Amino acid sequence: MTSDAFLVRDSGPLHGEVVTGGAKNSALKLVAAALLAEGRSVIENVPEIDDIAAMADVAVALGAEVSRPEPHTIVLDVPPRLEVVTHPNLVGRLRASIVVLGPLLAREGRARLAMPGGCNLGNRSIDLHLAGLAKLGAEISYGADAIEARVDGRLRGADIELPFASVGATENLLQAAVTARGVTRISNAAREPEISDLAAFLRAMGGDIQGDGTSEIVVRGVDALAPAHHRVIGDRIEAGTFAVGAALTGGDVHITDVDPSHLHLPLEKLSQMGADVFATDRGFRVRGTGGLRALDIVTLPYPGFPTDLQPQFLALLSQAQGTAIVTENVFDGRFSIVSELERLGAEIELQAHHAVVRGPRALSGAIVAATDLRAGAALVLAGLAAEGTTVVQEARHVDRGYADLAARLTALGADVERRVDDRVAVSS
Ligand code: EPZ
Repeated sequence: MTSDAFLVRDSGPLHGEVVTGGAKNSALKLVAAALLAEGRSVIENVPEIDDIAAMADVAVALGAEVSRPEPHTIVLDVPPRLEVVTHPNLVGRLRASIVVLGPLLAREGRARLAMPGGCNLGNRSIDLHLAGLAKLGAEISYGADAIEARVDGRLRGADIELPFASVGATENLLQAAVTARGVTRISNAAREPEISDLAAFLRAMGGDIQGDGTSEIVVRGVDALAPAHHRVIGDRIEAGTFAVGAALTGGDVHITDVDPSHLHLPLEKLSQMGADVFATDRGFRVRGTGGLRALDIVTLPYPGFPTDLQPQFLALLSQAQGTAIVTENVFDGRFSIVSELERLGAEIELQAHHAVVRGPRALSGAIVAATDLRAGAALVLAGLAAEGTTVVQEARHVDRGYADLAARLTALGADVERRVDDRVAVSS
């Protein structure tokens, strides 16, 4: 048994209340956006996860002073001039690091970035980022391991039509356009709630942005931005993960500090599968009623079904009555969990970018491995429904996006241990 694992034992229904942390996929970008303005920016409700620590290291390498005066708060003191080079050992572990490209071009007119790393979900090209920045006037060249970008003077507003509503490309272009000369229109922009959270922060810094949350974003460039304070929205993917845990174990969990409308489709799917889902004044509640019914899932950019909840729903559908087809349209390599779920006893057949799940099939504990962040969390959930003990190895993937997952599941009545270096970090 490796020394980096979750030990999960079937432990009956989850019950109680869990507080959702700040959204990882927003907080990461807000750290980058803070670089757009000289001075002190303060970001609150930041999740205590490894990826945030990695992004803070990138900001420090670019010249910012980063402090954490209290848990869930990050303070960035940004200097008048920024460094413009990032190193592979820093960005190699973090895909989101690519979103410093927009701020560096906007502030310094040039950047040299090592190619970003991150979860292995198949092709993760950045061509849309680069093509959009070129439209704003940047000259861009790149090789296998680095990108060079520069612009003479300020970036210039432009009309950009994204062939695919890429989250990262929309965020990079938004940050680059906010101080560009003139007006930028981003068509077919990503509409995720994290995009609106970033736009809200940029507006607090003095940016002029309209249409975020829709597929048409209009940015009127301003001469300069000022530092600002911002509170990160709740993490809809983390909340969705706990919601699946409640339905899967037949439990009753109140999930707070998140906007249920950000999870509209996944919650609708849960209730169509047979779980009771109620909005509350602080979030929402999920009560599993047993007897889950299978249904089909198709992942798409927001407001479509989030690809980041696909592995968790695969695990859930392995326990539902009937046959379900799960279609992954966003990442072409996001079914790596299937072989691991099959080790636990699930019956899933892969056909190109479809997974055909036949259920319910009894699960029994085994040694499985997390291949990425969401697959890892889904395997921990599957372990809650499997007889005996499930060992989820490569648990560090999960730490990248979930703070103290074992402790929070334990607080909901689960029997989950987190092993680090053969020491038991958390036990029930
Ligand atoms: C963000 O990734 C999230 N990551 C992902 O969450 C999430 O799955 C994804 O958006 C979709 O919702 C962060 O915010 C840090 P994309 P991103 O640009 O920005 C293709 C998690 O588990 N594409 O919308 O990388 C790309 O290959 C992570 O928290 C291009 O082809 O997503 C992919 O197939 C995993 N060219 C698709 O678009 C480009 O230039 C979606 O990518 C850009 C993207």
